[in-house]
Amino acid sequence: MIIFLPHGRRQKPLKDETIFDAALKAGIEIQSLCGGKGLCGKCKVIIVEGKENISPPTEVEMKYLSREDLHEGFRLACQTRIRSEGIVKVEVPPESRLGRQKLLEKGFERKVKLKPAVHKLLLSLKPPTLRDVEPDAERLISELRERTGGRIELSYEVLTKLPDTLREKSWEITVTLWRGREVISVESGDKRKSLYGVAVDIGTTKLAVYLVDLRSGKIVSTASDMNPQIPFGEDVISRISFVMKDELNLGRLQAKIVEGINNLIVKACRRAGVELSEIYDMTVVGNTAMHHIFLGINPKYVSLSPYTAVVGSSLDVKARTLGININGGAYVHALPVIAGFVGADAVADIIATGINENREKSMLIDIGTNTEIVLCDGENLYACSCASGPAFEGAHITHGIRAVEGAIERVWIDPETLKPMYKTVGNVKPRGICGSAIVDIIAEMLKAGIIKSNGTFNTDAGTDRLRERNGKIEFVIAPKNETFTGRDIVVTQSDIREIQLAKAAIYTGASILLKHVGMNPSEIKKLYMAGAFTSILKVRRQ
Ligand code: FES
Repeated sequence: MIIFLPHGRRQKPLKDETIFDAALKAGIEIQSLCGGKGLCGKCKVIIVEGKENISPPTEVEMKYLSREDLHEGFRLACQTRIRSEGIVKVEVPPESRLGRQKLLEKGFERKVKLKPAVHKLLLSLKPPTLRDVEPDAERLISELRERTGGRIELSYEVLTKLPDTLREKSWEITVTLWRGREVISVESGDKRKSLYGVAVDIGTTKLAVYLVDLRSGKIVSTASDMNPQIPFGEDVISRISFVMKDELNLGRLQAKIVEGINNLIVKACRRAGVELSEIYDMTVVGNTAMHHIFLGINPKYVSLSPYTAVVGSSLDVKARTLGININGGAYVHALPVIAGFVGADAVADIIATGINENREKSMLIDIGTNTEIVLCDGENLYACSCASGPAFEGAHITHGIRAVEGAIERVWIDPETLKPMYKTVGNVKPRGICGSAIVDIIAEMLKAGIIKSNGTFNTDAGTDRLRERNGKIEFVIAPKNETFTGRDIVVTQSDIREIQLAKAAIYTGASILLKHVGMNPSEIKKLYMAGAFTSILKVRRQ
């Protein structure tokens, strides 16, 4: 039996099951950036009791845990297996718990012409008589043909509701037409005032839902959360690997994302006082893997050379087929994907910025674990993606965490004393460093002369915050007496290297695109940046 602390939750594990898998089953989420593959070292737990009932430390644990860590009982949850039936008490320390993430819900907006895929019509039908016994459905279709002049179909769920709805308000009904050709809903009386849609952004890390009044185009409420698939792997490749491990796993991941979206839709509707049945349309974007998994399409070949997507064009699928709880007749519209690693999210970036319409020399960078870059040379658009890695999301950084409560998000270094000052998400005690702060730290250390221009520490900088531990040099951002975890929060030489690699990947992608079209960086008139932490980056003009 495993007892998880501080929750006190109990879980009977299978023999040889990892603590990580047992925690998932118990509904306890442990930090993981690699989906339990032993690649991130973030799933640290403390064995408080029952060391004799677990497997000995693996080589992976030796790599991520120091001798002192192991001595204090620290283990990696994804590497530690249950060997016998006795009690194992496992403490999930603060730095390994998944907190709520600070998410960006607002950004750059531009005016668009309102042209929703659904619209409503108020109809008054002639009731049947003994001389006119035309069936209800045909009666409705004839009226609609007269009003619109087009071929109209009725969806099945409309048929099941039609007879009572027609008679409820003396044959006065409101119909909702999808793309002017299919009746997806009928309501008694005049219901033209309620017409809502939801836009959903499925990010690898974040999930955001926007409830939109389709008559005005206004966003009436938003809701966001972390992508509930995170415990199965933090990057796209880990999730695809999880899908490939077992044929049931695609369904598992799809169910998770559908559940997450449904929960957020309920939240957004509650905030705006809107019923789920008043949502008649949904649009969804995500990178190619997220898009495929949401639609129940196997993303396996996206990760295998030559990295092809299963489908490139846009898709319309009935919401109920996917398990999305909105109006029973509504469709989900998935935007097209450009290529295996340039997905519908890049298409959304292009539409949102209007970079395709302005035809201005501009560049768009959507930073994530996989970064998409779009370049407009004044005429055509060129796109590429680069594996920038999850360093900006906190992975592979010694004290890196996502932008959860307690994450250091801004850092300044006093040029005189070389003492760092910081601000955390939620203004609470720090428990790690998130992407925006990592960028700050490197820039500030360079400015203050703590690192040299090649990224190596300057041991002559003259501050005791720069010190040597276990043969490695590190810089202390927050000493242990200030932190939530009771441990120093530091930046190491390898952290700087990780950021250099991530920056180099993005820089390379951008340079190759520029080279491909024969443009100089100085010709770029506008740079659009997407990705949650980019909104709080300091802009330095040269
Ligand atoms: S090393 Fe255990 S989850 Fe990544």
